Amino acid sequence: MAAGRFVVIVRFLVCLLLACRCCYGLQVCIVGSGMGGASAAFFLRNYSTAPLDIDIFEQNDKVGGRMAVVELAGDTFEAGASILHPKNLHAVNFVNLLGLKPRSDPDDEGFGIWNGSKFVFKTANAGDSFISKITTQILNTLAVMWRYGTSLWSMQNYVSDLLEKFLLLYQEGRPGFETVEELLKSVDLYESTQYPVQELLVKYGLSNLIIDELVTFIMRINYGQNVSISGMAGGVSLCGSGGDLWAVEGGNWQIPEGLIRYTNASLHLKSRVVSVTLEDSGYIVELESGGTKACDTVILATSLDESKIEINPKVKLPQRSMQHTYTTFIRGLLNAEYFGMSSDTIPDLIGTVEDPAIPFSSINVLKEYSVSDKAYKAFSRAPLSDELLDKFFSTRSSTIRIDWAAYPHYTPPEKFAPYILDGHHLYYVNAFENAASSIETSAVSAQNVVRILLSRLLHGNLEQPKLSSVAGLIKDGTVEDL
Ligand SMILES: Cc1cc2nc3c(=O)[nH]c(=O)nc-3n(C[C@H](O)[C@H](O)[C@H](O)COP(=O)(O)OP(=O)(O)OC[C@H]3O[C@@H](n4cnc5c(N)ncnc54)[C@H](O)[C@@H]3O)c2cc1C
Ligand SMILES: *[C@@H]1O[C@H](CO)[C@@H](O)[C@H](O)[C@H]1NC(C)=O
Ligand SMILES: *[C@@H]1O[C@H](CO)[C@@H](O)[C@H](O)[C@H]1NC(C)=O
Ligand SMILES: *[C@@H]1O[C@H](CO)[C@@H](O)[C@H](O)[C@H]1NC(C)=O
Ligand SMILES: *[C@@H]1O[C@H](CO)[C@@H](O)[C@H](O)[C@H]1NC(C)=O
Repeated sequence: MAAGRFVVIVRFLVCLLLACRCCYGLQVCIVGSGMGGASAAFFLRNYSTAPLDIDIFEQNDKVGGRMAVVELAGDTFEAGASILHPKNLHAVNFVNLLGLKPRSDPDDEGFGIWNGSKFVFKTANAGDSFISKITTQILNTLAVMWRYGTSLWSMQNYVSDLLEKFLLLYQEGRPGFETVEELLKSVDLYESTQYPVQELLVKYGLSNLIIDELVTFIMRINYGQNVSISGMAGGVSLCGSGGDLWAVEGGNWQIPEGLIRYTNASLHLKSRVVSVTLEDSGYIVELESGGTKACDTVILATSLDESKIEINPKVKLPQRSMQHTYTTFIRGLLNAEYFGMSSDTIPDLIGTVEDPAIPFSSINVLKEYSVSDKAYKAFSRAPLSDELLDKFFSTRSSTIRIDWAAYPHYTPPEKFAPYILDGHHLYYVNAFENAASSIETSAVSAQNVVRILLSRLLHGNLEQPKLSSVAGLIKDGTVEDL
């Protein structure tokens, strides 16, 4: 085995030395074409001075994974990951690099927090005119401040402190870290994965009222869970609730799609990987179709919890289960009476408190065609039956249901799978998902994986090594292995 790994290194160094296409590149195989896999391909190209052959295997017939769109009665909406934060610097950079068009997420929609029988808090929907938008915004801000008081600032402080630490991850020239723990500890974020967000927010001075209502409402929308999720996941979720959020015009999936094209990686769609086996000369990736691919290194860029990939020899991962989020798209009209309101005062975004008796987490308006015809998206922890939907909706012309294995079910203190699964060259981008699951964190994690992959192949640095030291290595090595 050790010899096998050495061959990989020597081959890589020879490629570096020759730095030309005349020799074959290191064969990198990536499983998954979502943000994690696509970002890994990008950073491999971005950081490697050696020629690399990159193959990406994707089981679906399209790229993007949990970044996908759905077509509802002729209109296209985000079906999975829908929003980005302005400080999601990789995403911002990728969108610029690829020439995609950002679109801002309207943050002036009214919202209400439903407790199963009443709105415990509600703001007003903005009208169409500029004046109405501005006055509604001011009144809504006052209403939120009136109810939650200084806890709002404390919540803001919590988010800024976390964000400040997270931004340190973008410093160029950072080393790669072989475990998520070390990566997080390097920016002082590890602790936040070890305690429920509720506990940390109380320390920041948030009242029980804001935690039970506003914070819970946000956690249920963004992670389908409650304030028992970790401080880190909770913080990322709070970040996804502020102003200035944005998305890619035409669909966020275009980021991974563009990155894969940009990197010239060979993309294999409808190619489900069933096993990855370590052999003396590297890895054999086996497809469901029966085909195989020999790879020097393999990057797994999918959550292993539900995608049954056999790894030989076996590796042991900490227990983790995925939280399923049922996403239901409805064209029709919400039954305002069910919520005890008239249809013009019902909030555009209805969120909920944590109560198992409430069968949904949120329902929001995506688009308004007329006063009696709108497109909606609902999130729930269990499927919404027609019978249930008929209670919430007075008319319903189309319905689409998607069952996502959406993000981990967070149970702090979080335990992390290692980035290097087998001690050789099998890497796992989604080990990071126990800290938080998002578009941006997938890119951050992929960047770290590429750093360790390249530095382990180059014995500890990302830059092109001095020729003499490389030559020395090759002389010392068993060159006949080549
Ligand atoms: C409903 C929902 C809403 C969300 N909202 C947001 C949001 O607003 N903002 C945000 O930042 N994040 C959001 N997220 C989270 C975000 O979507 C994910 O964290 C991120 O997209 C994960 O990317 P990934 O590449 O790690 O995994 P994935 O996107 O899951 O990609 C993995 C890919 O691997 C493929 N695959 C799996 N097994 C195999 C196999 N054996 N062989 C070949 N291919 C395989 C899959 O088909 C998939 O394409 C949301 C997620 C969901 C579900
Ligand atoms: C790496 O990416 C950055 C940001 O997109 C870019 O400025 C730089 O030129 C890239 N370097 C290489 C070698 O691709
Ligand atoms: C919902 O809130 C109302 C008003 O605050 C309260 O009277 C009612 O008991 C609550 N219902 C539930 C199910 O919590
Ligand atoms: C929050 O979620 C956890 C995990 O699913 C659950 O055990 C707990 O009971 C929930 N909290 C409340 C207040 O319902
Ligand atoms: C992709 O291929 C094109 C055409 O061969 C080439 O010009 C470009 O530099 C390649 N891009 C990368 C990132 O290697």
